[in-house]
Amino acid sequence: MKKGLLALLFVVSVMSAFAQQPDSVFVKGYTTGKNENKNGLHIAYSFDGKNWISIGNEFSFLRSDYGRWGSSKKMFDPVLVKNSTTEWACYFFTEAEHKVVGIAYSNDLVLWKPQDYFLYEEVKTRFPVINKALNSAAVVHKQPWSFIQALINHTDLEAYRNMQYSVNAQSFAEKNATLKPVNVSLSVNMGNKKKISDKLVGVFFEDLNYAADGGLYAELIQNRDFEYTSNDRREWNSTSYWKSSNGNLKIESTQPVHKNNPHYAVLQKDEQLQNEGFDGIAVAAGEKYNLSLFVRSANKGSLSIVLIDSNGTKVSNEITIAANTSNWKQYLAVFTANTTVKHARLSITAKKQETAVDVVSLFPQKTFRNRKNGLRADLAQAIADIKPRFMRFPGGCLAHGNGIDNIYRWKNSIGKLEERKPDFNLWGYHQTMGLGYYEYFQFCEDIGAEPLPVLAAGVPCQNSSHHHQTGIAGQQGGIPLNEMDAYIQDILDLIEWANADKNTTWGKLRAAAGHPAPFNLKYIGIGNEDLISEVFKERFAMIYKAIKAKYPAITVIGTVGPFYEGSDYSFGWDFASKLEVPMVDEHYYVPPAWLINNQDFYDKYDRKKSKVYLGEYAAHVRGRPNNMETALAEALYLCSVERNGDVVEMTSYAPLLAKEGHTQWNPDMIYFNNSEIKLTPGYEVQKMFGNNAGEEYIESSVTVDHGNADVQKRIATSVVKDAKTGDLIIKLVNLLPVETTVDVKDLNLSNYNIAKTVLQGNPDEKNVKPVTTTDVVLNNKLVLPKYSFTVLRIKAN
Ligand code: AHR
Repeated sequence: MKKGLLALLFVVSVMSAFAQQPDSVFVKGYTTGKNENKNGLHIAYSFDGKNWISIGNEFSFLRSDYGRWGSSKKMFDPVLVKNSTTEWACYFFTEAEHKVVGIAYSNDLVLWKPQDYFLYEEVKTRFPVINKALNSAAVVHKQPWSFIQALINHTDLEAYRNMQYSVNAQSFAEKNATLKPVNVSLSVNMGNKKKISDKLVGVFFEDLNYAADGGLYAELIQNRDFEYTSNDRREWNSTSYWKSSNGNLKIESTQPVHKNNPHYAVLQKDEQLQNEGFDGIAVAAGEKYNLSLFVRSANKGSLSIVLIDSNGTKVSNEITIAANTSNWKQYLAVFTANTTVKHARLSITAKKQETAVDVVSLFPQKTFRNRKNGLRADLAQAIADIKPRFMRFPGGCLAHGNGIDNIYRWKNSIGKLEERKPDFNLWGYHQTMGLGYYEYFQFCEDIGAEPLPVLAAGVPCQNSSHHHQTGIAGQQGGIPLNEMDAYIQDILDLIEWANADKNTTWGKLRAAAGHPAPFNLKYIGIGNEDLISEVFKERFAMIYKAIKAKYPAITVIGTVGPFYEGSDYSFGWDFASKLEVPMVDEHYYVPPAWLINNQDFYDKYDRKKSKVYLGEYAAHVRGRPNNMETALAEALYLCSVERNGDVVEMTSYAPLLAKEGHTQWNPDMIYFNNSEIKLTPGYEVQKMFGNNAGEEYIESSVTVDHGNADVQKRIATSVVKDAKTGDLIIKLVNLLPVETTVDVKDLNLSNYNIAKTVLQGNPDEKNVKPVTTTDVVLNNKLVLPKYSFTVLRIKAN
């Protein structure tokens, strides 16, 4: 709908409402069967109790939160009742068969508290009032007109915002086809500066899209320990990704290497076993690869091991292992590849006797910083190149897990590889835990980033497929209270493991793993986008208080839901403010126009409340590419975040990594396959911000010679000073379809060495690289190409 038409309708609807404005009207809740019953609760009013007007044209005031994402979350036959003078309740069924009842409460019909669900049979006996309401044909209330007017205003505002956020680069360019190049003057007030966070740009690593196993973790063997199960993926089992010449690989579990690693393969004489890695094993001629495996053979077994290509031709030296032990023994060897192959396989042949093998591992010798059990060098380097000041790990949803048994337990991820406890990954695959807490912390140290582990707040994902007690999907569970002490102790142990002396219980394990010095952990995230329910609040408060009491120097980061507004955001902020949590983690994935229209989002934040970690954000457009349109919108918004670097302490784009062919979520910052990495425009923006950070924000403003606010909003700037070098850094974003000339004469830059980096490309371009020119002379004018992000680094000396 056109903006003008919408405004007209708004005026007409308000005028006509006022024309016949009564003191009060009838109001009722209802739903429709549209969108497979996923549209939730609508509200209608009536002057006479017979003719009904839908508020906001079937606006969804409340949606069912019952069940997992996707097919669930339906609402049937809702009734809206006034519970008390201030509170409303909505009772509804979650399916047509009326088996489960959902209950939600609200004071204003806009913000709703977390929903509860009960079996209808239980409702009938335990809650007769609710049962009666559910059976009343239509519950109708009389409400003052002002109450309805507030709802109408809310839906009008939402409609206006939706229209505003639907403007994209193409529609803007079409609408402004006659726009001429714009002139801007930039003024910088060197006298007005403030300190901002020196941790503003970081990264968020989540094991999603095969980011860990098959991704950043350099292990080349898939299902190395024969622990794949149908919990990981329905069709998987211990033999997945292994191919036996016998057609039927024998798996046993009677005498395992370790109880956390119960399954192993038993090769028969002459049986050949091949592992195809993660989409093949990419090897490069001349490169060396470290092999490790556990072997057991009571009767002088012998294994012949080699890398082969898809035709069976050898592409490395052949290794022979003489196994003569009834106990498990680890063997180490090195391959050198003689050919470059993308899809090699590891082949193991039992030459003489039945021989058991387990934890078969193959790593390139060249990992990032040559770490043992290390990371893929190219991917890790690409992350390091951003110069992230922190890294959040091991994930968002992954950290709180699918059900309480799947909550990520850091202790399962440390120690010897064969002793780590694998688990299913809620994104539909397997976690070996090979990339575990030690590796995450080591990587953070290697790249100069603060480690930021995020741990579940004692609750799993509210969209879990099962609840440990009720069995009802999509109901927030919680670790039983009598197990919370142990859970909290695990978190305290993590801090001891990371920070304490090597002679402490947990510090000793860190030292034994190879890091006697403390890791110096400063931040810990508790919770991820959790529903701000009583279950959550109780557990979060217990954890928070325990950390604060024992480790007051640790900054705990709380959670305020998955959006920039709404129930979890509002209730999460209230809760964090009450507890005085030092920082909260905000998430929002939004259209570019949201970022363009909300550059004042943090200007309005109360500086006395919790600081903000913008832990997940990205611009999303139709088809979800990572292109110049999304990247420039992010750059523009980051300028406003820098301006608010006194309240926003950290930011991280999400998600970070995605393997081609295994991508569950788009857009991502870095795409990769086994031999290539593909950097996106969004990556380049993060890198330009990370490499041009400052600790002092200097007041600046741009004056645009164009009266249209929508044009003005597409130009942004931020000026910071890098305290270490003394360099002044000016960032300028031009999201207009025309060139912009910036008058910089006020800055008097003629005597300075300047490096200019420009990222430019049409909105839908994906392969764009920044270009840097040094010793730039500006002659008082700086031209910002259309659709570009420019960074000027003005050297102090
Ligand atoms: O970044 C992908 C997912 O988005 C995260 O796991 C979760 O926190 C958010 O919903």
